Amino acid sequence: SLLPTTRCEAVEGRTIRVDLADTDWDNLGFGLVPTDYMYVMKCTQNGTFTEGKLQPYGPVELSPSSGVLNYGQGLFEGLKAYRKEDGSILLFRPEENALRMKSGAERMCMPSPTVEQFVDAVKLTVLANKHWVPPVGKGSLYIRPLLIGSGPILGLAPAPEYTFLIFVSPVGNYFKEGLAPINLIVETDFHRATPGGTGGVKTIGNYASVLKAQAIAKAKGYSDVLYLDSVHKKYVEEVSSCNIFIVKGNVISTPELLGTILPGITRKSIIQVARNQGYQVDERLVSVDDLLDADEVFCTGTAVVLSPVGSITYHGKRVEYGHRGVGVVSQKLYCALTDLQKGITEDNMGWTME
Ligand code: COI
Repeated sequence: SLLPTTRCEAVEGRTIRVDLADTDWDNLGFGLVPTDYMYVMKCTQNGTFTEGKLQPYGPVELSPSSGVLNYGQGLFEGLKAYRKEDGSILLFRPEENALRMKSGAERMCMPSPTVEQFVDAVKLTVLANKHWVPPVGKGSLYIRPLLIGSGPILGLAPAPEYTFLIFVSPVGNYFKEGLAPINLIVETDFHRATPGGTGGVKTIGNYASVLKAQAIAKAKGYSDVLYLDSVHKKYVEEVSSCNIFIVKGNVISTPELLGTILPGITRKSIIQVARNQGYQVDERLVSVDDLLDADEVFCTGTAVVLSPVGSITYHGKRVEYGHRGVGVVSQKLYCALTDLQKGITEDNMGWTME
């Protein structure tokens, strides 16, 4: 049930902001729509998170010398809540986000909430903002947990205090193309990650470092950038905001997780869904040659869900897929995943949570 098990401030009786009535549910993109409540939980000196609570959504107070502002000690997560036909709300695999935050926190020398604390906090925040979960077919409520070094520090070291925070925003499609195929360019100058670095964890710095390449690509009319490995410069890694898959015949391949690629929860789910449907799915090194030779290419991520790729440009050569339409395999997997997330098909995997 969505009823949380942790103690919280009473939230009933507060008026929902008037702008809820003004929300244009038919034209949600991936822009921020401020909602009513956020969840905040601090970590005490002894390394345990206690006394989390909901508070009105708004600015947070941070020391100018906080670890996150000075040294980027921070992680974020992303998950979604969907409204079902009967009005109830479904979360998709929130424990997976909790576990990923835990392993990321370990890499970034931060304490993390327990899986139970994380999932309870997500439920509480969604429930407090339940009016912001879009109507069926109009989008979803994007949930953004953050873990930041909020304590003051000057010398380079882990911060003395941490804050776990969750805010939410109703969202629609991530790319401006909507559900239409996106156009990617293979990035040959900039790299997103290096072996031994933090490419495989959801640290905030990974996302600041891709903005430049993304801006250059967008100015040339591409939707986003596809990164190559920084050692051989010939294996595909991921897009700035999502993982990548290629389809060749009955075989689906995606770059294997060797520490430089974000272990996407949608990635992991699509691998399972595809295998359940009888496809062979290989996690392996995927070269640019494999990519350009594929029948279909698609991206996966919480924000992008499953986005078909219409073209890839590499060193000025443009390869088009699926004659600009959505490939059969991409379409099939998109429907299988989203029907599960929205509670349209029965969840035999135990992935959704009310
Ligand atoms: C997500 O898909 O949830 C992400 O965290 C990607 C982000 C760039 C929107």
